[in-house]
Amino acid sequence: MVTEEGDGLAGRTVIVTGAGTGMGRAVSELLLARGAHVAAVGRREAALRELAAGAWGERVEVIAADITRPGAAEDVVAAATARFGTVHGLVNNAGLARFAPLEAASDDDFERLLATNVRAPAALIRAALPHLRREQGAVVNVSSVGGVLAMPGRSFYGAGKAALNSLTRSLARELAPEVRVNAVLPGPVDTPMWDDMGLDAEGSDALRSGLLAATPLGRFGRPGEVAGWVCGLLDPHFSGWITGALIPVDGGRTS
Ligand SMILES: NC(=O)c1ccc[n+]([C@@H]2O[C@H](COP(=O)([O-])OP(=O)(O)OC[C@H]3O[C@@H](n4cnc5c(N)ncnc54)[C@H](OP(=O)(O)O)[C@@H]3O)[C@@H](O)[C@H]2O)c1
Repeated sequence: MVTEEGDGLAGRTVIVTGAGTGMGRAVSELLLARGAHVAAVGRREAALRELAAGAWGERVEVIAADITRPGAAEDVVAAATARFGTVHGLVNNAGLARFAPLEAASDDDFERLLATNVRAPAALIRAALPHLRREQGAVVNVSSVGGVLAMPGRSFYGAGKAALNSLTRSLARELAPEVRVNAVLPGPVDTPMWDDMGLDAEGSDALRSGLLAATPLGRFGRPGEVAGWVCGLLDPHFSGWITGALIPVDGGRTS
């Protein structure tokens, strides 16, 4: 939000995981357009380099990392602060979607989901905490409506996102008043995630049409429609009195 003090995000440093594609890319582009610095994290360096090659790319630090690797959280925060000096915001957006019914889903699948969607976000918050506390910063977790709805055929994914929601609410209280912690809960959004869920084309089509039918606004969301809310929750001018909120951005799916 722009006030007489300027844009609430200008000059701030935000770590964004999964910044190379989908919603993380849209969040990063909006942050850059609003004058922020972005520490862009993901495994595929080429996707992150595209962000750095665009407009405002001089305000991007590319950090190629697998956030599930032990020590990765500390390395990411060290790289961000080496470049920008501090951290004001963290967007835990990177996520894994592996959809399968219980009998077809392995313990390994569950481990990977939890490592990516729950453990890594918690580790990143912990690693960034000294900076976030000093700067009165904010965390935004990109969760899912899957964390509040029943998810038949996707129960492990739903359980992981429910855990992320719980983490959001507990840490909002634990870290207040210095650090705000919120989550957005997107409904179905058109991103590359839909090509990488472990479903065949028929299964993916069936899932998409079911979700479309269950979405009152009658279409999938666009990444930028979620990015606006993520940036709003990072912006102290706009949301300085909001913490512990789980905000659905879902075309009415959970209404
Ligand atoms: N699309 C939807 O309908 C939808 C709905 C609700 C919630 N969400 C959530 O939205 C978030 C963003 O997903 P998206 O839809 O934008 O899909 P996406 O484009 O596939 O984004 C996922 C990102 O996470 C990164 N990532 C995955 N595992 C990682 C790891 N171990 N280390 C570092 N980065 C990792 C990926 O980059 P690399 O592969 O390069 O590492 C990728 O950029 C996820 O948390 C997802 O669960 C999506």
